[in-house]
Amino acid sequence: MGAAVLVALNSRGCVVEGPAASYDVELAKSFKEAAEAAGILVGAAVNPAWLRDEALYLDVATEQFSSFTPENVMKMAATQPERGEFDFSEGDSLVEFAEGVGAVVHGHALVWHLALPSWIEEFEGNETEWRSLLETHVKTVAGHFRGKVASWDVVNEAFTDTGYRDTIWFRHLGPGYVADAFRWAREADPDADLYYNDFGLSGDPGKLNHVLDELEAMVDEGVPIDGLGVQAHVELNSPSNATLDACVGILKERLGQLGLKLRVSELDVSLNRDGRYCNFTDDLAAQQEHRFRSLAAKFLSVPQLTGVTFWGFSDAHTWIPHYFHDPDWPLPFDASYRPKPAARGFLDALLAAGGS
Ligand code: XIL
Repeated sequence: MGAAVLVALNSRGCVVEGPAASYDVELAKSFKEAAEAAGILVGAAVNPAWLRDEALYLDVATEQFSSFTPENVMKMAATQPERGEFDFSEGDSLVEFAEGVGAVVHGHALVWHLALPSWIEEFEGNETEWRSLLETHVKTVAGHFRGKVASWDVVNEAFTDTGYRDTIWFRHLGPGYVADAFRWAREADPDADLYYNDFGLSGDPGKLNHVLDELEAMVDEGVPIDGLGVQAHVELNSPSNATLDACVGILKERLGQLGLKLRVSELDVSLNRDGRYCNFTDDLAAQQEHRFRSLAAKFLSVPQLTGVTFWGFSDAHTWIPHYFHDPDWPLPFDASYRPKPAARGFLDALLAAGGS
């Protein structure tokens, strides 16, 4: 008889594959030191409330990262909770923290079809009124943070593999809203780098090419776009290495031609999308280490890369289990804020890119 396999008593019937992982990882350098030598920023999506309330969260954020993205507090639901009433308190709190630790802020996101305040869903107006509403939002938010954020995700998730996503903005404004948003953002903050951000760009060459076609048309028209954000919410084996390599090849070639920068904007490696595992084991830790090392090396091979940002940094605070409804461990630091083997894998790739 082999070792007994315990079937956990949760509703999904996940399997305890072995004892909990027993790693003891020491990082030779901080992420941010290694990233600086490699010529990029390394970031994390964070929430100001946890920076205030959790000492270990604050410590790791301070020690490791040179860039911070607000996970939620600069989205429209947070910044314009009532029509014409803006609230920048949490965004300002993040800016203040970042300034204090010498890091930059990447704003996220001026235009998205999710995290909308409820008044928007109820808004009735003609096209002119919708356009004016979006223009006011983009200009007020980008204007408030002018000089305080280094860059923005101006538009998030506007395209499908073949066209425009059917969103509240597309329905009311038609395709021109994407270019308009970039123009408004540039007007309100001439110094911030302006990015288009989307998912599926490291795992779907068709979508990547389509998005790049759309950006190319805008660049040709003189729309002020500085770069592309590739979200990279990936799994251990999906996308495959062959698909990732295809996407990286497209990025190198086409971003070079277009003169656009690249950010990996929302990196995490989920291990349990199918709910198979109940617990994080040494085997999963080793596979995730390998995956982070290889992913980071692939992205670092793109000359246009300006930064890599994790979506969170600790398994204590990750959107994955909330969204996909299974336990998961997608980030480089564990729920006790200790570095996981994944952190070593990622750091190895940064060190190699920085010449050590
Ligand atoms: C997610 C946040 O992580 C969650 O806390 C929130 O409940 C929903 O949004 N792509 C994006 C991010 O561009 O804004 C999303 O963030 C994750 C997917």
